[in-house]
Amino acid sequence: MVEKNSSLKSYNTFGIDAKAAYFSRFSNSKELATLLQEFKNHPFLIIGGGSNLLLTKDFDGIVLKNEISGKNIIEDTADTVLVKIGAGENWHEFVLWTIENNFGGVENLSLIPGSVGASPMQNIGAYGVEIKDVFDHLYAYHIETGETHRFSLEECQFGYRESVFKHSFRNQYVITEVCLKLEKNRKVNTTYGAIEQELQRMGISSPTIRDVSNAVIAIRQSKLPNPSELGNAGSFFKNPVVDAAIADAVLEKFPTAPIYPAENGKKKLAAGWLIEQAGWKGKTVGCCGVHKLQALVLVNYGGSTGNQIYGLSSAIIADIQEKFGVTLEREVNIL
Ligand code: FAD
Ligand code: EPU
Repeated sequence: MVEKNSSLKSYNTFGIDAKAAYFSRFSNSKELATLLQEFKNHPFLIIGGGSNLLLTKDFDGIVLKNEISGKNIIEDTADTVLVKIGAGENWHEFVLWTIENNFGGVENLSLIPGSVGASPMQNIGAYGVEIKDVFDHLYAYHIETGETHRFSLEECQFGYRESVFKHSFRNQYVITEVCLKLEKNRKVNTTYGAIEQELQRMGISSPTIRDVSNAVIAIRQSKLPNPSELGNAGSFFKNPVVDAAIADAVLEKFPTAPIYPAENGKKKLAAGWLIEQAGWKGKTVGCCGVHKLQALVLVNYGGSTGNQIYGLSSAIIADIQEKFGVTLEREVNIL
């Protein structure tokens, strides 16, 4: 059923009360094709959980919510399983299912909000793992031809919070199914950040994938706001990847700045640290602000418009540029 003049407030985790001229759900490619045909002269927006979106205005077109479901093991060997997941499945519920079945590989990606279908869009990542590490292939519906294409790992061109779907193929494909290869005897990855420390606190010395998942959940809950309590879309900015000379200049002034190695001799700076140093952490501007426990997260205290949050992000970008000579890039999709 197509709704008219529909509020999107409960469909984006920022809780922005923008409206869509039309709104509908689809649960298979045929329904999607019918809707795209019926509304072919209108702009369209595909959404999953709306957890990486900032709506700065009403959407004068049709918002299509992906509800393609299903989890199927399509290949089963002694060591691995290949799982095909409908794009509308909830990501964290899928992760919990893998843990129930003792299929390892995505436990470090526990508690990331949103849908399975959006996970390749920005190559979701956390605690030392990105979806590209378990990715096998995906299926996507080509809007212009109505054909379904299979994309291999190479074709997705995954990078840090990047994929081909975010750039050259933006608005051209709808991801309908994602196939991930998981391990039956997973060697857990606990090297990143505070995982080891959290496991120690939990009194665990030989962690299972369930233990790693629980540790990641505990760390995330200690600093990231729960969108059902406080509107947000996770990290608002990417961690900037800069030339070594820029990172060295930051280090010279601030010897304790967290800096990580990146590809091609570049360095990754911690945007949260830069924003905190610049004095923004915990600041409130109107109804929105910078989260008090994680400066990379912008929050809606209630009643903020998307434009107010966008304005806050612009002020932060300008200030970080001035103070550190570093350009922050927004991670969240702006509409
Ligand atoms: P949406 O917000 O609905 O959509 C995001 C973009 O993808 C939009 O441009 C949309 O048009 C497009 N899109 C959605 N579905 C499809 C599809 N099927 N086909 C084609 N295009 C599509 N991200 C991380 O990487 N790591 C984290 O640790 C992390 N932590 C977070 C913590 C919190 C509290 C929150 C709120 C967000 C966090 N995020 C994180 C961001 C977010 O959860 C992910 O980007 C997630 O994959 C978005 O999924 P979604 O279904 O909500 O996407
Ligand atoms: N930091 C500060 N102040 C802050 C926040 C962070 O000084 O307010 C410092 C921390 O002390 C640490 C460093 O910055 O030294 C990195 O912080 P953290 O480990 O919390 O991770 P992050 O870089 O802020 C990234 C991702 C998250 C992901 C975590 C864990 C990006 C843009 N963000 O955050 O992803 O969950 O690492 O892997 O890469 C998201 O994309 O929405 C997201 C939440």
